[in-house]
Amino acid sequence: MTEVKKQPSERLAFDEEGFRMSTPNEIAEYKAKRLKADSIADLGSGIGVQALNFAKASGRVVAVENNRRRLEECRRNAETMGITNMEFIEGDATDAAVAEKLGDVEVIHSDPSRMKRGTGWIFDDLSPNPLAISRIYRQENKSFDVPAFMQPSLLPEGWELEYISLQGELKRLSVYTGGLRKFEKSALSLPSGNRVLYNSDIQRKVEQAQRPGKWLYDLDGSILHSGLLPEFLDKNGGLELLYQDRQKTILTGEKFVTDPFIVRSYSVVDSSQSMDGVKKKLIERRASKVVLRYSLDPSRYYEERRNIERGLEGSATVYIFRFKDRYYLADKVETQG
Ligand SMILES: C[S@@+](CC[C@H](N)C(=O)[O-])C[C@H]1O[C@@H](n2cnc3c(N)ncnc32)[C@H](O)[C@@H]1O
Repeated sequence: MTEVKKQPSERLAFDEEGFRMSTPNEIAEYKAKRLKADSIADLGSGIGVQALNFAKASGRVVAVENNRRRLEECRRNAETMGITNMEFIEGDATDAAVAEKLGDVEVIHSDPSRMKRGTGWIFDDLSPNPLAISRIYRQENKSFDVPAFMQPSLLPEGWELEYISLQGELKRLSVYTGGLRKFEKSALSLPSGNRVLYNSDIQRKVEQAQRPGKWLYDLDGSILHSGLLPEFLDKNGGLELLYQDRQKTILTGEKFVTDPFIVRSYSVVDSSQSMDGVKKKLIERRASKVVLRYSLDPSRYYEERRNIERGLEGSATVYIFRFKDRYYLADKVETQG
């Protein structure tokens, strides 16, 4: 999947790492609206993409950062933007003396640094650690941005879980406590703002399709990782699960469907039982390139693709899916927007 690249604003001061860690502006704007308050503290503000958006939407904003250079960049960015409702504290957000300095702040927000050490994310990989922040800061209204692939079972009970994707790419899991909680669990697609909500009354078992229909669809990763596929299918009658692995969810149907959570659509144009048959059909379709959409060891992807593309002299790109040992050839549907 193509990565959504952040565009640095010309007006923003940043160091390379500070920019890499910063929040895409569309997500920062959304969260600023959702967390709007009289006062809000951003613990680990970085260069300030989120803190500056908080300052546009809320009253008093306190930026806490333990990296002096980054706090200075955050201060400069506020000055450049003419923002005057921000305060800056240099220090460790998990230090009780820093918590004391904040005073009565209504909302605590933190988008911690991620320092991957093992195979799965744990709270000790995050700095400042949200569990330490939860203990030290007594405010009931808190929101943390944690890695989207963090096991939900590690999160304290009662936190709202919101899986946020931007242009079809899962970006983060935002959690909310206290009065900030609105839903139990949801997947949110930005920039459209469409949301799929957890529904405890829905049958959770999803039947797999018997075969691909006329159309195939790549589903937004926020649906897979939030476990809200039953809700999505309930909302979009006529779609069925074709297959799912750790990276992708492919849906199918006989009718063409559009939805903000459908990232790409394909029309099935042919099929074959064997790879020799696939190659013949690729030549007939005047293909030059293929994109393999079936589960494959990533280290073998390019070799397999090169083997299939050898001898192709056309100009078309064909997408290849595999289901129950049969290959399906499909064209990508260009949708607007
Ligand atoms: C992911 S970045 C925040 C990016 C920010 N939300 C933005 O959009 O620009 C996390 C920041 O937390 C800071 N940090 C890490 N541990 C901290 C701690 N214990 N106290 C204060 N700041 C901390 C890091 O220096 C880093 O700048």
